Amino acid sequence: MRITIFGTGYVGLVTGACLAEVGHHVMCMDVDQAKIDRLREGIIPIYEPGLEPIVAHNTAAGRLQFTTDVAEAVDYGELQFIAVGTPSDEDGSADLKYVLAVAGSIGEHMNDYKVVIDKSTVPVGTADKVREAVRGKLLERSADIDFDVVSNPEFLKEGAAVDDFMKPDRIIVGTDSDRPQELLRELYYPFNRNHERVIFMDVRSAELTKYAANAMLATKISFMNEVANLAERLGADIEHVRRGMGSDPRIGYHFIYPGCGYGGSCFPKDVKALAWTAREYDYEARLLDAVEAVNSAQKHVLFDKVSHYYGGDLAGKTVALWGLSFKPKTDDMREAPSRVLMEKLWAAGASVQAFDPEAMEETQRIYPDQPGLQLCGTKEQALKGADCLVICTEWKEFRSPDFAQIAAAIRSPVVFDGRNLYDEKMLGRHGLSYYAIGRGLNQFGTR
Ligand code: UDX
Repeated sequence: MRITIFGTGYVGLVTGACLAEVGHHVMCMDVDQAKIDRLREGIIPIYEPGLEPIVAHNTAAGRLQFTTDVAEAVDYGELQFIAVGTPSDEDGSADLKYVLAVAGSIGEHMNDYKVVIDKSTVPVGTADKVREAVRGKLLERSADIDFDVVSNPEFLKEGAAVDDFMKPDRIIVGTDSDRPQELLRELYYPFNRNHERVIFMDVRSAELTKYAANAMLATKISFMNEVANLAERLGADIEHVRRGMGSDPRIGYHFIYPGCGYGGSCFPKDVKALAWTAREYDYEARLLDAVEAVNSAQKHVLFDKVSHYYGGDLAGKTVALWGLSFKPKTDDMREAPSRVLMEKLWAAGASVQAFDPEAMEETQRIYPDQPGLQLCGTKEQALKGADCLVICTEWKEFRSPDFAQIAAAIRSPVVFDGRNLYDEKMLGRHGLSYYAIGRGLNQFGTR
């Protein structure tokens, strides 16, 4: 099948490359000429495991093409995916200007039947707006051409996006007519080998499914963070509690890891956007607001622990920071808890020596010439001359470090762990104190 994808960000590029990988013919369109030039040379703008080789070989095979030419892009595919960004407005609502601009372009340039597919995470009701935008342009041209709008939200995890696309748990397709159903069934047929993965539903239900799924996962995390905060005050260990809870299959072990707060491009934005949509429909989504509030507060917890340890005086202190990205296996720094921590440390007069296996360039881009930030080539270098160690991201290489070396390198024998990677006793053997989330030492004097 011939497919056009608007937007070559995480979602668009992964979708395009994976659809080409199973034999479809894909044209990816982006307004950023420099990005398209680099993609044509096989240079991909993001770090995503497994993506580069499939972009390279499908480009070489001629199944994956890149363009900045809108007319060419619209003409190419019978299926037109919209995978452009939907940033949060100040008030938390999703900004649809890029999505609707693409819809307008499709209406402006299409000459035959098209299925317009919303892939970006968009508020319930967006498909109607996309339909109006396409129709508006067709009317301007007095063109009578048939089209359908479909909602096909993505469920890709950064760091595992290619795998998630190739082996999906489910593929949600929201359509209000039969013609696009047949086309989407054919499109996703290769991903359906052993089980039927496609779940068809109406457009609005598909739009809501995406938000509800992300909000549910974010709720699990905020719930556990709240229990972890409680555990600290009660003198309990959240890791025992987590295992005790997860063994109940109705609860399960997934997404109940407490930590220094969820980040990324999806959860924070989607929870806020759904709460905003609720308000638009005169409903106060109290649980969603609480999920967001708990998470925002959770991003301050590590700072509070460090600050308490030093009696509220961080001026002149140097903090070694391991992990900057919002989670492992990505260089994405959007809404990363490390940013809240660093910014608070700088404001308190402390400096940071940071290491991350992938997110160093991105950190440099976000904080160019930042006083009090030194990016270090290795995790060991980050420790040199530092007062203490803080961990924000659970990269594999941080899981079993040389504790004797840590103890020898830092001035105060203390580790603050935002991801509960270690055990108090393990560190105690090396004379290190251990503050974690919902376990270890804390400022409440319970342990
Ligand atoms: C998420 C959804 O998982 C995916 O289905 C959707 O399409 C997009 O949003 P992603 O943002 O890539 O994917 O990251 P995810 O792996 O879900 O983690 C999100 C955040 O939650 C990270 O900051 C992570 O550290 C945090 N997290 C996750 C926890 O704090 N505890 C957990 O138990 C799980």
